[in-house]
Amino acid sequence: MSSPSPAIKLVAHSVPRLRGRVRAPGDKSMSHRALMLGALALGETTVQGLLEGADVLCTAAALRALGAEVVREPEQGLWRVQGFGVGGGREPADVLDLGNSGTSARLLAGILASHRFTSFMTGDASLRRRPMKRVIDPLSQMGACFEGREGGRLPLAIIGTDEMVPIEYRLPVASAQVKSAILLAGLNTAGETTVIESEPTRDHTERMLRHFGADVHVAPAEGGGKRITVVGWPELMARDIVVPGDPSSAAFAAVAAAIRPGSDVTIENVGINPLRAGLYQTLGEMGADVVFENGREIGGEPVADLHIRGGGLKGVEVPAGRAPTMIDEYPILAVAAACAEGITRMLGLGELRAKESDRLASVAAGLQANGVRCEIGADSLAVHGTGAPPAGGGLVTTHLDHRIAMSFLVLGLATREPVAVDDGSPIDTSFPGFADLMNRLGARIGPVSELAPRPVARPVSGPAAGAA
Ligand code: S3P
Repeated sequence: MSSPSPAIKLVAHSVPRLRGRVRAPGDKSMSHRALMLGALALGETTVQGLLEGADVLCTAAALRALGAEVVREPEQGLWRVQGFGVGGGREPADVLDLGNSGTSARLLAGILASHRFTSFMTGDASLRRRPMKRVIDPLSQMGACFEGREGGRLPLAIIGTDEMVPIEYRLPVASAQVKSAILLAGLNTAGETTVIESEPTRDHTERMLRHFGADVHVAPAEGGGKRITVVGWPELMARDIVVPGDPSSAAFAAVAAAIRPGSDVTIENVGINPLRAGLYQTLGEMGADVVFENGREIGGEPVADLHIRGGGLKGVEVPAGRAPTMIDEYPILAVAAACAEGITRMLGLGELRAKESDRLASVAAGLQANGVRCEIGADSLAVHGTGAPPAGGGLVTTHLDHRIAMSFLVLGLATREPVAVDDGSPIDTSFPGFADLMNRLGARIGPVSELAPRPVARPVSGPAAGAA
């Protein structure tokens, strides 16, 4: 079960600028949902542009264990899913290993809980640390039972039922994963299941459920927020899905371009759903030149080509209310902030502590190891940029967190000394080919052994690494 892949130490050297056109890999959130809804539909769903990262492959394997046929056409990179229908999954013969993937674990919990069998899930050391009580609580109210480790952590046994009761549930945390777990359970539940969210979170589940033919309605909630209701026992119909590029993955090339003056980078075909696009708004406020070109709609989601030119960034305050729209982008925003002039304050970041690592702690440690001054509070981060290239020279501990690894490699493109990360292997969970794509734009990212330091004399490094 989840044997760790060998650690790969990676390093990034500074480069003058990045230039070129690339395509970001498929959206992770939409890829998980396309496979899951394909499995819950009758007939054959096809998926173009699926993210073939380790997290999504865990979802594919779990759905196969439940009885769906999930295959990749080798030539065209097209995926075909032969579904088992709502409530039609079979008892998995073994423990479901969900690797590093919180989205797989939380969303599948909703599907598994609404089947009349017992199933088991586990994951890697990072996933086994992450809170599952947030899905256990509402799914227990609907009638399922759970046995997990302290705090409801994996490994987890799910004793499901096909006689779930519909609930009306106000989310205690802004979480699209929890919302989605409840809506997916609501599919195999008689009557109407309602989730109330005080702050809007990504709505891919709602959009895609409608696309597959489910009855989903959204209305303002009394006391504020949105009521999202799904009507149980729909007959979901197989669909052809096209997954756009992931704005959270595009963020690494976008910030790399923004922090290197003279850069000119276009990332084609990126999803710009407003509930995912908070980073791009923030970069604009910092003074970055970010233009959405060629706007269009693909499969019910807005898509554009992102054109970014590098230039002087300024520190800003990022309000707490924006957090759900850029929840995965704070590590890379912190890198932009480190290269900006002035202080960037980011508020409302409590949820970062529940990600693949405690991202507030991981980001602060990585910045400090590279000579960037910062302070963290219970749910806030302040980064002090000087407008000059940070010192760099640090070794960053990634704690099995792909976004920490990629963010600090981007920092290394702009620092006086190279930046290394202790383990780049988790990058494959969301962005296979990350280093190649960045290097095509002019970056210098690679394994420590393959990337020799520059032959020319380097200036003496600045403030001591680790300075707070
Ligand atoms: C996701 C929702 C977010 C995000 C995660 C993917 C999803 O998590 O951090 O990477 O696909 O629903 P939360 O819903 O827990 O905030």
